[in-house]
Amino acid sequence: MDAQDWDNRYQGSELVWGAPPNEIVVELATALPRGRAIDIGCGEGRNALWLATRGWQVEGLDFSAAALEKAAATTADAPAAVLERLTWTCADLRAAPLGADVDLALIVYIHLPADERAQLLRRAQDALAPGGALLVLGHHVRNLAEGVGGPQNAAILFSPADIVAELDPTMQVDFARDLGRDTPHGLAIDALVFARKP
Ligand SMILES: C[S@@+](CC[C@H](N)C(=O)[O-])C[C@H]1O[C@@H](n2cnc3c(N)ncnc32)[C@H](O)[C@@H]1O
Repeated sequence: MDAQDWDNRYQGSELVWGAPPNEIVVELATALPRGRAIDIGCGEGRNALWLATRGWQVEGLDFSAAALEKAAATTADAPAAVLERLTWTCADLRAAPLGADVDLALIVYIHLPADERAQLLRRAQDALAPGGALLVLGHHVRNLAEGVGGPQNAAILFSPADIVAELDPTMQVDFARDLGRDTPHGLAIDALVFARKP
C-alpha cells in the first residue's frame, strides 16, 4: 500500500487502530527508563502519545498525512508538557532520517518486503544509543494458515527468527516470540522481537 492507499484507509473520524496503546508496547516500555523514542510508522499515534504521557520525548513518523492529522487531533487535548514531547513527521520510513541517540525504536505492524525490512532494521539499529531498545511487533507469517487478520501476503509477513536473522549480530535479543492475540474474529498470531544495542 502506498501513502495514498493509507490516506484512504484513514478517512473518517473513527480511529482505525483504536485509542489505547498496544499492550505489548506498554508492557515492555514500562520497564525502560524514559528517554528518546521514535515510533516508525506511527499511524494515528496511539503508542507515541502513550510514551509521551510517560515522559518520553517521541517522534512519530508516518507517510500518511491523514494518519498524522488524526494523531494531532487526538492528542490536541493532552497537557502542554505532553505535547511538547511529541513531534510528528510526515515521511517515508524507507528513506527518512531516524535520528540519533534513540533509546527506543518502535516498528509496530509495519510490513515491508524482506529487503526493505532488513534495510529499515539496519537504519533503526544505527539510530539507537548504546543500550537503546528496538521493539518489532507484527503479524506473524503463521497467521496465513493458523491465525486471523493482517496482510494476506507471505512476502511481507515475518517470524521472530526472520527479524533476529536480519539484526546485527551484536544486538542482544531479550525476546523473540510468537504471541497469540484474541480478536473478535479469532486468534491472531503476532511476531515479537525485543533487542538492545550493546
Ligand atoms: C498497520 S498501521 C500501524 C500503525 C501503528 N504502528 C500502530 O500500531 O498503531 C501501518 C502504518 O505504517 C504506515 N506506513 C506504511 N508504509 C510506510 C512507509 N513506507 N513510510 C511511512 N509510513 C508507512 C502507514 O501509513 C500506517 O499508518
